[in-house]
Amino acid sequence: MEYCVNLWLRPRLLFRYNAWVMNSTTVSQIGAYVGQEVELKGWAYNFRSSGKIFFLQFRDGTGRVQVVYSAAELPAEQWEVLNTIRIETSVIVRGMVKAETRSASGFELTGVAFTAIQIAPDDYPIGKKEHGPDFLLDQRHLWLRSEKQWAIQRVRNQVINSTFAFFNENGFVKFDSPILTPNACEGTTELFEIDYFDLGKGYLSQSGQLYLEAAVMSLGRAFDFGPVFRAEKSKTRRHLTEFWMMDAEAAFVEHEGNLQIQEGLVCRIVSDVLTLCAKELAILQRDVAALQKVQAPFVRMTHKEAVTKLRELGSDIGDLDDLGGDDETILTKQYDRPIFVEKYPAVVKAFYMKRDPADPTYVLNADMLAPEGYGEIIGGSQREDDYDVLLARIKDHNLPLEAFAWYLDLRKYGSVPHSGFGYGLERIVRWVCGLEHIRETIPFPRLINRITP
Ligand code: 4AD
Ligand code: MG
Repeated sequence: MEYCVNLWLRPRLLFRYNAWVMNSTTVSQIGAYVGQEVELKGWAYNFRSSGKIFFLQFRDGTGRVQVVYSAAELPAEQWEVLNTIRIETSVIVRGMVKAETRSASGFELTGVAFTAIQIAPDDYPIGKKEHGPDFLLDQRHLWLRSEKQWAIQRVRNQVINSTFAFFNENGFVKFDSPILTPNACEGTTELFEIDYFDLGKGYLSQSGQLYLEAAVMSLGRAFDFGPVFRAEKSKTRRHLTEFWMMDAEAAFVEHEGNLQIQEGLVCRIVSDVLTLCAKELAILQRDVAALQKVQAPFVRMTHKEAVTKLRELGSDIGDLDDLGGDDETILTKQYDRPIFVEKYPAVVKAFYMKRDPADPTYVLNADMLAPEGYGEIIGGSQREDDYDVLLARIKDHNLPLEAFAWYLDLRKYGSVPHSGFGYGLERIVRWVCGLEHIRETIPFPRLINRITP
């Protein structure tokens, strides 16, 4: 039968035929097969045996389910192999699906067949006992298989998908900013430098923003999404040296409109994660009530107001100081929704930010700080759109004029008011997942003291 089907069915149809005959499926789909036999391919993440009954904890990338085998029901040679498996052995299991309210998946399989693909040795490094963070980071390639890490990567994926959906629905075009650049975007102290052939020094991008400004003079609204690099000397729970940034930019949008776009994006991300990643948030034991409070309008305060408030809360922040990590923590613990801190002193912010016409010692920017102590997740501003003013700023900041000639051209040929912002994906994921440290939000974290695995 298989032979003649092979002859005349196209591969796609053949796949469906096999799926139908074998009920070959995934854990995420087994609810549709209660009372039927299914075949699943994956890994044994744990097991225990009472001699006659074998409990296999199975995972396949889509979810986890227990398969219960009994010596009396399984062919003897399969029972023998089953009893040699070790943690993380790759397996094919076959069993009858039954609803099981006591299990997290809601189902259990009564095993009828078992095949080992590759039997792992008895030394899987990650066990049930507590491991230190350095050990786990050394084992990151395996640690990613743990349930919590699985859940985090799935939330991360959802944040990315919701970001793309929001921008597509709001007229923003995806634009690819370069990674190798001739100049700094966010200040020269945190640049990774490379030797670029005969052309001298090149740098790894800190943000695609400047290129997005060129993009919006063509496309109107655009966003990018990609890895960026900061030679941050800081060893904190919020800093990576390589992280993923989304920059968005829009022509004819001023400071106020910029904040509204950010509110819309963050509300969309949080509400999607709440509805589409409920299982993952439960695994992470995230307090979802806190996320449900993330509704527009967000809290707003100027930098001046933030400084006053912070001093009341015990900070020694100066009038013209940037907010430090500790300041952000104490401030955001006061509120149950994100805060925009607007209009920072120009001296602590980037050269491209437009000055506040009401007081030019301040800029038309805002940082969005996530509540519950998480702190900055977005930085953005209206951009300086006047040629002469921008030229003066570039000189004030001692930036190389030649490298910025193209950027100045954007103010020479049809300059318009425009604004934008950038989020750090890992900062958002850390907040939404409720994680202590940013290192668990990215598959292979790069920190000041780590570049492996
Ligand atoms: O505030 P930043 O430096 O802003 C920019 O780069 C602008 N050019 C963005 C723009 O307007 N298009 O960085 C933006 C965000 C921060 O709010 C933070 O979430 C994240 O990037 N970020 C980091 N995340 C992890 N590790 C680091 N070292 C980070 N530095 C910034
Ligand atoms: Mg910032």
